[in-house]
Amino acid sequence: MTDVPEIDLSDPAVLSDPFAAYAPVREQSPVARLVAPGFGPFWVVTRHEEARAMLADPRLEINSGSFMRPDVPEHCLPYLRTMSEMNGPEHSRLRRLVAPAFTPRQATLFGPRIERLVEGLLDELPEDEPVDLLERFARPLPIDVICELVGIPAADRPSWREYGAAVASGHGEKFGQAIPAVIEGAKAAIAQGRAKPADDLVSGLARINEEDGDRLSDDELVTMVWLLVLAGQTPANLIANAVLTLLTHPGQLATLRADPALMPRAVEELARWCAPGVMTVPRFPIEDVEIAGVRIPKGEPVTASIVSANRDPRVFDEPDRFDVTREPSPHLGFSHGQHFCVGASLARVQVGVALGVLLRRFPGLALAGEVSYLPDPGTLRLASLPVTLRPAG
Ligand code: HEM
Repeated sequence: MTDVPEIDLSDPAVLSDPFAAYAPVREQSPVARLVAPGFGPFWVVTRHEEARAMLADPRLEINSGSFMRPDVPEHCLPYLRTMSEMNGPEHSRLRRLVAPAFTPRQATLFGPRIERLVEGLLDELPEDEPVDLLERFARPLPIDVICELVGIPAADRPSWREYGAAVASGHGEKFGQAIPAVIEGAKAAIAQGRAKPADDLVSGLARINEEDGDRLSDDELVTMVWLLVLAGQTPANLIANAVLTLLTHPGQLATLRADPALMPRAVEELARWCAPGVMTVPRFPIEDVEIAGVRIPKGEPVTASIVSANRDPRVFDEPDRFDVTREPSPHLGFSHGQHFCVGASLARVQVGVALGVLLRRFPGLALAGEVSYLPDPGTLRLASLPVTLRPAG
């Protein structure tokens, strides 16, 4: 086992630039060990092909129970076991039932509603002075989109932004309070959606399920709404990372501004270049498995490094060049296999609309201060994104 390289997650260099830290390790071996003080064995797959294969391997399961925590009120626990923590047929049943609401077509149909939300958020921001685009735009947008999707009444949306922020922070008193509020709000939206179907996800799912033999129960729908609040906020980090990337690659920004039809390709390239997921959720082998000749013992966690796979020169020409015209781009920014991001189409539309409107309205958009990524081993995310919104170039 001595020839399996190690990546030290407590090394500030690894946290501040995972791309640079992974490159030599990936060239040395498709499998490495993640180490940190107090960490048990933890494996990471560094190359694209092996990462894809691993993510599609049914012998590698996600563990459930991550929400069995003291800050979660007990009566909420049953609602928090989401499909993202399930495996096999239990998982695929729920995926099948929600999939019709998340097709590329549904996401495209939702585009104009997202655009209205984007315009509304930008209308509220001051021009020609520094503003934190992460706090004021990138964070509220995804939770507003989820409210629109779920059918949360407009009057309740400011509270949902707070719940969203508390859930995204992942801990603390506000987190514990947000959970029952989201569950109660979801129950009310579902009752409303069943009583008076509207043009939202809950009403849509209720309709789909009436036509089908199987259906999501109301409790399963509540859990699904919770999962959307939990997982559906990721666009915040991609939007912020994307704006930073574009502003620090002025040639590519100019190319995109000159041809807005490039936006879908640019979004794919951004999801490759600065995907917020540094690595996937850990998987646990239900038996000993071998990945590229390395034996991973049963029960030892293994993750796929998204940042490393997305810069694998075996798959991407000149992987360290940011290129908004790159095509095709089989990146793993939305993962792969059974747990491939169910919201990927919606996220693509959301990020494309957000960037498109921002660039169109503010030809003189510019950074307005120092920007740095937080030292977070799991998520590539900024602490803040100070910019100046200038309507004229
Ligand atoms: C799963 C990324 C936006 C809902 C995932 C996974 C990744 C991911 C990497 C899989 C993790 C794994 O395999 O371990 C992203 C990124 C997004 C984004 C980069 C934005 C840019 C969204 C949105 C929604 C969403 C907008 C919903 C509205 C989900 C759900 C899962 C998931 C429900 C779990 C799927 C399952 O377990 O079957 N996402 N996501 N995501 N995502 Fe996203």
